[in-house]
Amino acid sequence: MKSKTLYLLFFFSILQLSSCKEKKIDLLAFESEVLKSEILSIDQKVEKLLDQMTLEEKIGQMNQYSGFWDFTGPSPKAGDAAQKMEHLKKGWVGSMLNVTGVKNVRAVQKIVVEESRLGIPLIIGFDVIHGYKTISPIPLAEAASWDLEAIKKSAQVAALEASAAGINWTFAPMVDISRDARWGRVMEGAGEDPYLGSKIAVARVEGFQGSDLSDPSTIAACAKHFAAYGFVEAGREYNTADVGTSTLNNIIFPPFKAAKDAGVKTFMNSFNDLNGIPATGDIYLQRTVLKENWNFDGFVVSDWGSISEMVAHGYARDDNHAAQLAVNAGSDMDMESHLYVTELASLVKQEKVDEALINDAAGRILKVKFELGLFDDPYKYCDEAREASVIGSQSNVEEVLDLAKKSIVLLKNQNNVLPLSKKGQKIAVIGALAADKTSPLGNWRLAADTNSAVSLLEGLKSYSGNTITYAKGADVVIGKTGFVSELTINTTDTSGFKEAIMLAKKSDLVIMALGEHAMQSGEGRSRAYLGLPGVQQQLLEAVFAVNNNIVLVLSNGRPLTIPWAAKHIPTIIEGWHLGTQSGNALAQVIYGDYNPSGKLPMSFPRSVGQVPLYYNYKNTGRPSPVNPGQVFWTHYIDQKNTPQYPFGFGLSYTTFAYSKPMVVNTYSQDKQVTVSVKITNTGKSEGKETVQLYLRDLYASVIRPIRELKGFEQVVLTPGQTKEITFTLTDQELGFFNNQQQWLVEKGDFQVYVGGDSQTINQVNFKL
Ligand code: BGC
Repeated sequence: MKSKTLYLLFFFSILQLSSCKEKKIDLLAFESEVLKSEILSIDQKVEKLLDQMTLEEKIGQMNQYSGFWDFTGPSPKAGDAAQKMEHLKKGWVGSMLNVTGVKNVRAVQKIVVEESRLGIPLIIGFDVIHGYKTISPIPLAEAASWDLEAIKKSAQVAALEASAAGINWTFAPMVDISRDARWGRVMEGAGEDPYLGSKIAVARVEGFQGSDLSDPSTIAACAKHFAAYGFVEAGREYNTADVGTSTLNNIIFPPFKAAKDAGVKTFMNSFNDLNGIPATGDIYLQRTVLKENWNFDGFVVSDWGSISEMVAHGYARDDNHAAQLAVNAGSDMDMESHLYVTELASLVKQEKVDEALINDAAGRILKVKFELGLFDDPYKYCDEAREASVIGSQSNVEEVLDLAKKSIVLLKNQNNVLPLSKKGQKIAVIGALAADKTSPLGNWRLAADTNSAVSLLEGLKSYSGNTITYAKGADVVIGKTGFVSELTINTTDTSGFKEAIMLAKKSDLVIMALGEHAMQSGEGRSRAYLGLPGVQQQLLEAVFAVNNNIVLVLSNGRPLTIPWAAKHIPTIIEGWHLGTQSGNALAQVIYGDYNPSGKLPMSFPRSVGQVPLYYNYKNTGRPSPVNPGQVFWTHYIDQKNTPQYPFGFGLSYTTFAYSKPMVVNTYSQDKQVTVSVKITNTGKSEGKETVQLYLRDLYASVIRPIRELKGFEQVVLTPGQTKEITFTLTDQELGFFNNQQQWLVEKGDFQVYVGGDSQTINQVNFKL
């Protein structure tokens, strides 16, 4: 309240200083109305404020600059800092990104609040993708938990810490569906499926934004990247995307629509072009679909420099044209192209851009600022005491540990080698990733401290009394790895093999930590080979030759191709990049303190040539050979069609049996279909199963996939225990978008599959 008064006094002082008499009166009127905030709606306040703003000030709201500044007092250091500073003072900046920490945020906020004419606070954005300092598993790993509550909590923790560091807007969740493991950014999303992806999008939006955006421990979220960025051709970063209507509406859009329906405040457009139009300049995506059809009333931020990149795309003539195309298409905020601030005012004056579009864009941005409560107190996220107590707190650490355990997927456990006993064993731990305390944090953890993760080696030691020895064997990559100027060149150095092999020979069991270094996935990290990078495959085979009792712990930000390991290595754990508590989570699973429950959110291919590979494919006209050895059907002559590990797959230390599913009613009567199934724990330990329901619509006016996930539920069962689970399929699950974008529920024959992964054959039929 105190700072609110100060802030209003500041408005008032502008009034006194202003040389324009009429403006003084307007501001006074505005101020007195703002004071009665309960009388005016946010939309009315936005309108009143817009009335007071010059064209340049409105455009200023649409301008976002990156910080990367070190404030010791407000003194930006690098590059075009002087100009950025001048623009801040003029009120020509609406948002900053990459300014973090209460001290820095307060300093930059103070400039606009105290020195610009209207003192409109900045919205402070940052890539809080899977945690701020206390890091959760990478989003793809989180998705493997299929635990929506835990995912929501993870976003809550991220919001709690980020908001305590002065941030009030995250560029997350990334809700791009992708079927292509070559694309490095699959680590940032929820995998290949639109149904799971939509549920997770909602969980993340709700986690970040909470139920009250003005609560200082919540932050605005951003659904990105709109749209089709996950479909870049050949998985090559920033590449073109060519996608048909059916895939766009049924696969790509649903998680965005779900995020919008969950109240996400902002969208980010994408770097790629979609069918020949850069998303940033796409009127259809941003205006027709998002703002008109979906009625989205938040704002759209461009991706970094994506407005000026329309020149390189060959869509805009020059920068000036790019600004015109972007604003006309509905990109409301310019992230780091620096073009709105330089080009838009003259474009409006030349009547190439309608000022109404500027009012609309600036109004959308101001609205979110009002909703965040920044006009009540621009420093509400700047509380040093809160920053000190919240960031890295024990409860945050416990939350990320909980989700890290749930994200681990047991891929193979031949002869039940796992869980390991906690004593009496000589264990050799091999692989550079076993001792690494940074790589487990994954990519997109900009604020996390280097070396702040619990390594696998540390976890294994602290959870048992076994004799544990370590040899690196080989590095993964050469040199230092960082977010921007990274070296991700695979090492060829095998000089450490000898020591590793000797150690393996002397041990009862070998735990091998292999996979990708964190900086081998993420933005700009597409891969054409999906095997273990560098000499790791060689190392694995060399160790196997002397001791085949191996537990392979994979770290990676995407599905890998591991055909040799899948065949020869008895025990394989998918350990992703699990965040701050990585080593503890893995140790708890390895020693059986936590019974693994994760299920793959993306298919693991057998070889790169199968990619894009996904479970919800179409049958084709020649789905199988008529006679063995036949050639003319949909297949490869040198590889199977099936994945190594399917979508939805993951083992437990116990086993589950399913009854045949039953359809217990008729659609004609109830306008919905209810399916029930019984599931029993047939093993010896308590365990959690994710029961998955897949639907197949056998014939339709637009071909439907071979099966589609339409429901899932997690159930914890003690040995011998049985539970019945019921799924309800409404028109929302039974229908689809045709190519005219109409939602259709068509009569016909359906199959329902219920089981523990996408290849289950446990099935029942029904008619609609
Ligand atoms: C990424 C976005 C990110 C932005 C700001 C871009 O390169 O594509 O996802 O939010 O940078 O860091």
